[in-house]
Amino acid sequence: MSDIDMLDASSILARLDPTTRPAFASIEVVDAIDSTNSELLRRRTPDSGLVALFADTQHGGRGRQGRPWASPPGANLYFSVSRRFSGELARLGGLSLVVGIATAEALRAIGAARVAVKWPNDLVVDDDGVLHKLGGILIEGGLQDGVARAVIGIGLNVRMPAEAATAIDQPWTDLQAQIAGGAPGRDSVAAALLASLAKVLAQFDADGLAPFLHRFDALDALREAQVDALVGDRTVTGIAVGVADDGALRLQTDDGLRSLHAGEVRVRRRGRAQA
Ligand code: BTN
Repeated sequence: MSDIDMLDASSILARLDPTTRPAFASIEVVDAIDSTNSELLRRRTPDSGLVALFADTQHGGRGRQGRPWASPPGANLYFSVSRRFSGELARLGGLSLVVGIATAEALRAIGAARVAVKWPNDLVVDDDGVLHKLGGILIEGGLQDGVARAVIGIGLNVRMPAEAATAIDQPWTDLQAQIAGGAPGRDSVAAALLASLAKVLAQFDADGLAPFLHRFDALDALREAQVDALVGDRTVTGIAVGVADDGALRLQTDDGLRSLHAGEVRVRRRGRAQA
């Protein structure tokens, strides 16, 4: 790896398997933008194929719950993928889990063997019972021309610059720390993520969430952990016992089994449950 790790669309495309390339209507890299999610939301998503937009830096990067997503240049990955989906808009409910699975599996395959998914879709690494954030996913969208479309934004720490790291207010990690020998170039990481997303999103469009539930089990960072979930202004405490068929987080509480849906809760892991 040279010191300069430029992102380049033709290099990303060249790293994709020839059978995967036709899945993409376009792959684009820009130097700077407000937010790749905002840009793809402004654009019309084509009738078929995936659109992928990467930015070297974002000056208005957005995280979930209205939080900003710091996007220093030359180091990490910030990108969005948009796609149309068949059927009702409600079918997209399970999408956040599926995108977490696609990204975590791709990162494990390139050597980040300890990457897990913290429900609903944070990419994390567990270090001595503390979850360190490696990346985040922001899914937006709705109906376009009466058809469901999603804009899937992913921010991934590849090589977090030291000066940017000082501003992060939670435990974090990057691919550089997670892969023996260091992170590959960003083009390689980008291609691995796009290939996995193309495959998984096509399967989700055809078959829904069911085929992915067992794959989530293998990546579930909260499994058997005691968690506090913030539901509105109430905290629900329980043991995380996997996800329901609709992707809801199942919590075993003192009052019985509760199912928590994405968007309603924030989950904070407190430590391993006792056997
Ligand atoms: C989160 O964990 O809060 C989600 C973070 C999502 C960040 C990505 S970076 C690319 C895309 N553009 C944005 O403005 N946000 C997403």
